[in-house]
Amino acid sequence: MTNYICSVCNQVYLIEETRWKCECSGVLDLLKPETGSERVHWTDQPSMWRYVSSMGAGEELVGWPSVTLGEGQTPLLVFDEEVPDTFVKMEYMMPTLSFKDRGAAVLVTLAKQLGVRKMIADSSGNAGTAIAAYAARAGIACDVYVSAHTSPKKLAQIKAHGAEVRAIEGTREEVAAAAQSAVLEEQVFYASHVYNPYFYEGAKTYAFEIFEQLQKAPDTVLVPVGNGTLVLGVYYGFKELLETNKIGRMPKIVAIQAERCAPLAKAFANQEPIAKPVVNEGTLAEGIAIAAPARSKQVLEAIRETGGMILTVGEEAILEARDTLAKRGFYVEVTSAINYAGYMGYAKAKDEVVVIPLCGAGIKSD
Ligand SMILES: Cc1ncc(COP(=O)(O)O)c(C=O)c1O
Ligand SMILES: [Zn+2]
Repeated sequence: MTNYICSVCNQVYLIEETRWKCECSGVLDLLKPETGSERVHWTDQPSMWRYVSSMGAGEELVGWPSVTLGEGQTPLLVFDEEVPDTFVKMEYMMPTLSFKDRGAAVLVTLAKQLGVRKMIADSSGNAGTAIAAYAARAGIACDVYVSAHTSPKKLAQIKAHGAEVRAIEGTREEVAAAAQSAVLEEQVFYASHVYNPYFYEGAKTYAFEIFEQLQKAPDTVLVPVGNGTLVLGVYYGFKELLETNKIGRMPKIVAIQAERCAPLAKAFANQEPIAKPVVNEGTLAEGIAIAAPARSKQVLEAIRETGGMILTVGEEAILEARDTLAKRGFYVEVTSAINYAGYMGYAKAKDEVVVIPLCGAGIKSD
């Protein structure tokens, strides 16, 4: 059976409806049964669920067919024929128009298996939208805590799925704190893309798909980072491919933050193990404006271990990148444009195979 294990004190917990952090406040990871490569039996299912045997221990996710909205297997395209080794992955072609569906589908499948009747999430927009959609599909009531300044289009999307939107005046951290108080008070499931490790179990499928599409690991994976769920998905996904001898070495993770809210980039540059909270100075990249990422230690370790780096991008470059992408046919939300802006600032070597995610659709932001 799979358990939770505290990333700080190693305390082990049963996977239960109301368990979302350790008694010591540490974030939880998954403690999986000893298995090895024979456990991994990918199927020919044409969605991300072909990899279900690589998520958790599998048994707790058997109910996925009644929760899925057909997420995953997004196309991987050469962006510019003159640079044939740079690829974009079309994550905005997901049921709720962002890559968050990978984690949300897995998290809600787990919740359904646990018999959850109500869940609470907090989000800068996309994760909340994804959780709301899958909760609706699974017949689970859902409240989503957001900042009162969240893009109206994302709020409309969340409400359309029947979720209650709880708009909080305050920082992203205050929004999370409000959600956590409600979780404690109501004793319900915390559908947190940050705290619940099943979310990055789902994000691992991003790595598995890239591997299958390229038939190898890329040299470098560019990843936007706010809380770091995609960084962790990429890291653990490729790590499992390495451990099962499907690839020979880890790709380098090059993470991208907005200059005006870059706690991880600062910690990385100063060689600190944990990111100190910063003040969010306000950025167009609202989806990754996380001033105090709860898994900073894990995220920094992952990037360092791959020999990667963290780049920062200014506001003008984000807008320019959005324009450039749209002029090439790729209509992404403003936050997502930072990925391409990061690529423009990255010194790619000749023949280096690079993958850039296009995370969210253009109609999600103004
Ligand atoms: C469009 C977009 N890109 C990137 C991210 C970053 O994801 P994470 O906070 O998991 O690092 C988000 C998160 O909401 C997002 O909405
Ligand atoms: Zn602990």
